[in-house]
Amino acid sequence: MRSLSPRGLLAAILLAAAVPAPAPALADDAPPPGRRAALLHMLRQDCGACHGMTLKGGLGTPLLPADLAAKAPDALADVVLDGVPGTPMPPWRALLTVGEARWMIDRLREGLDR
Ligand code: HEC
Repeated sequence: MRSLSPRGLLAAILLAAAVPAPAPALADDAPPPGRRAALLHMLRQDCGACHGMTLKGGLGTPLLPADLAAKAPDALADVVLDGVPGTPMPPWRALLTVGEARWMIDRLREGLDR
């Protein structure tokens, strides 16, 4: 193998430095596109079972944009992940990542029909 000239070596080092490090694990980031349809389905079916198929409320509180506008998204995501002890709201942490819960709250705050 031909050894690199000093200039070639310098170029190789600069190139290596310019390549971004691999992205960290995506656990807390937005779900990949392939997962989003399943999460939206879950919002309508599983969450809708209590919150109403149109999310206007039922056994669970209404989850329409106007109902959530004044509430902190992170606190709402915590409710989804941990549930509300002493109420029927169950914890979903076994099924959802933090990023997925946060993404679902963002969709609810926008309105699913948007
Ligand atoms: C078994 C019934 C049930 C299911 C299923 C359910 N919830 Fe709930 N949820 C409730 C109840 C009841 C409350 C109100 C708890 C309380 O009194 O604070 C609630 C509260 C909430 C809140 C807080 C609302 C607010 O205005 O503070 C959010 C957000 C929420 N649920 C999201 C979800 C999501 C997302 C799902 C599906 C992944 C889901 N819920 C599934 C019953 C349910």
